[in-house]
Amino acid sequence: MRVLGIETSCDETAAAIVGRGPDGAPRILSDIVLSQVEDHSAFGGVVPEIAARAHLSALDRVIEAAVREAGMELRDIDAVAATGGPGLIGGLIVGLMTAKGLAASLGKPFLAVNHLEAHALTARLTDGIEFPYLLLLVSGGHTQIVAVEGLGQYRRWASTIDDALGEAFDKTAKLLSLGFPGGPAVERAAANGDPSRFDFPRPLRGQDTLNFSFSGLKTAIRMEAEKLAPLGEQDVADLCACFQAAVRDVLVDRAVRAMERFREAWPANEAPTLVAAGGVAANQVLRGALATTCADRGWRFVAPPLKLCGDNAVMVAWTGLERFEQGETSSLSFAPRSRWPLDRDAEAVIGSGKRGVKA
Ligand code: KG4
Ligand code: ZN
Repeated sequence: MRVLGIETSCDETAAAIVGRGPDGAPRILSDIVLSQVEDHSAFGGVVPEIAARAHLSALDRVIEAAVREAGMELRDIDAVAATGGPGLIGGLIVGLMTAKGLAASLGKPFLAVNHLEAHALTARLTDGIEFPYLLLLVSGGHTQIVAVEGLGQYRRWASTIDDALGEAFDKTAKLLSLGFPGGPAVERAAANGDPSRFDFPRPLRGQDTLNFSFSGLKTAIRMEAEKLAPLGEQDVADLCACFQAAVRDVLVDRAVRAMERFREAWPANEAPTLVAAGGVAANQVLRGALATTCADRGWRFVAPPLKLCGDNAVMVAWTGLERFEQGETSSLSFAPRSRWPLDRDAEAVIGSGKRGVKA
């Protein structure tokens, strides 16, 4: 069983092949990611039109590279999976049309994959995590706490009421002229900073909600930066360190509350697992804090290897494989979805949106 995955929902053009070894264990046969960072960096964010064109010009080559790296021919593939949403519509169209065309010409099944589900299931590929588990999904477009009960069974317990966490990192980086994408740049700068120099707010900490809010923190940083201007290198490092410390405290606060709720929901689960996923889960300070929080409470903590935290096609191929093995396929008339909630029953949260270039 070998599934080709295609990811084009944002600013990475990616293709990968995932299968199972003779022992049934998942195997990543190839993993190609072409980042468009340079195409967008001058604009300080992802420009949807530029992204769609870049996917169109690169995707064929990226797929060829994935097939070659796996030492296969296209005809050896058993199914083709592509991200069907949520994401930027132009990019989704490119990935879906390519996947459908390939599937039809090869006479193989096609699967449209939810990008959030792909992030959510990555830990099953890398660490063989069993259902149910608690998921902290932190990316450029989403910040959610989800109870992952089974394949296709997701309960969203919390979301952001304003900015996504990755967006908050990106905006902080932009404010401090650290470039795009902001997350890695803020983490690098913070490594030389004093996390106790400024007392930034910990939005919603201790309140009776699992939701997140980051806009107040962003405003606090902007005001502090304006007060200090012109900023020296140490000021920037200290601002980043204090921002990251505030984010760490908020994530830990919410994770602990969610873990309590999970314990109540699954009291018989003796070795519960917290999974962190999405681009922000690449952050070492945040990973470290969550790992300690879990260890202190007898929980297992799993975060995918750095390469599989950000957007990639391995997670899309894997989700396609899990779904296909369950007997599912998608219709060739599947239409791209700019919004595609993991949990359709969850209440809409005002203000949470998908990132793009913000004025
Ligand atoms: O999951 P992802 O690659 O794309 C989306 O689906 O959104 O996440 C990208 C986000 C960006 O906002 C980026 O700044 C953030 O993840 N990010 C980080 C780090 N690496 C990437 N945030 C904090 N620390 C990092 N090391
Ligand atoms: Zn993502």
